[in-house]
Amino acid sequence: MTWLITGGAGYIGAHVVRAMLDAGEQAVVYDDLSTGIADRVPADVPLVVGSVLDGELVSRTLTERSVTGVVHLAAKKQVGESMELPLHYYRENVEGLRVLLEAVTAAEVGSFVFSSSAAVYGMPDVNLVTEETPCVPMSPYGETKLAGEWLVRATGRATGLSTASLRYFNVAGAASPELADVGVFNLIPMVFEKLTENAPPRIFGDDYPTPDGTCVRDYIHVVDLAEAHVTAARALQASPGSNFTLNIGRGEGVSVREMIDRINALTGYDRPPVTTPRRPGDPARVVASADRIATELDWKAKYDVQDMITSAWAGWVRLHPKAARG
Ligand SMILES: NC(=O)c1ccc[n+]([C@@H]2O[C@H](COP(=O)([O-])OP(=O)(O)OC[C@H]3O[C@@H](n4cnc5c(N)ncnc54)[C@H](O)[C@@H]3O)[C@@H](O)[C@H]2O)c1
Repeated sequence: MTWLITGGAGYIGAHVVRAMLDAGEQAVVYDDLSTGIADRVPADVPLVVGSVLDGELVSRTLTERSVTGVVHLAAKKQVGESMELPLHYYRENVEGLRVLLEAVTAAEVGSFVFSSSAAVYGMPDVNLVTEETPCVPMSPYGETKLAGEWLVRATGRATGLSTASLRYFNVAGAASPELADVGVFNLIPMVFEKLTENAPPRIFGDDYPTPDGTCVRDYIHVVDLAEAHVTAARALQASPGSNFTLNIGRGEGVSVREMIDRINALTGYDRPPVTTPRRPGDPARVVASADRIATELDWKAKYDVQDMITSAWAGWVRLHPKAARG
């Protein structure tokens, strides 16, 4: 099959492209390079530079490249920015998806995998978040992902397009240093940044109802996540007309304090964190139930948090050589 990977020059997309190639599939990347990096796309994979909002270019690409499936990762993803620029987020993430789906159904593409997010759940008050946990997003970003799931599912039901919405939990790590996440939006790179500046890492609130008082999250290695896309893609091919939604996590909570301790130990810094007030909208605990994907697709993550920190640090040191110790 030939898969169009939108956002394939991005952090996660670049890993999905490689996982698809390793699985013997063909890939074409479609990316506007707004946050993506062209060098992340393998030399033998065609890169079409354009926005998913450009329906004509998407349609032409689908036809000319004989695309049979789409993995849609292209989106804006910063929660804070989405609070300031909600219309921009709705345009890129919802209108962009609508335009893409119009082209996909017109070209009679068979399968569609959509990047959703644990942000759809908002502040869940449960130990493990299942796919049945109510979705109450707390930001325009999370809203665009939930609306995206609705668009994808409604299109699947109406047209026979096979669809999967994958709700990623906290993505970390890299397959190799040059594929590492270059943004500083998540806990791990935020801690790396502070250590590199020779400043203490920050904990936003240590009075949450969790064992050590700091927020608890579920981290998933990007290589595992990419493989989950291949598994989902294969499942769609095997059952035409299916529409499913799955959590992609490990089902294991790691607290902010525990993560900082592990990073300090691995990097050779020994910088105790400082605590500042809670950030509004941060839930105490968001940990996936990974049961449904295990049962339905026989998929399970292989890598642990230490693998994520080690590979993310290798990528960070490549970009910030002065951060290396010893
Ligand atoms: N990184 C995470 O922890 C995380 C968690 C949950 C969900 N997600 C979702 O995963 C997807 C990929 O995230 P990422 O971390 O790789 O981010 P990223 O910013 O590295 O990748 C997004 C890619 O999409 C491209 N893009 C953005 N808008 C586009 C448009 N209108 N047309 C074409 N290309 C466009 C960018 O240039 C970039 O290459 C996003 O949909 C994001 O919402 C990410």
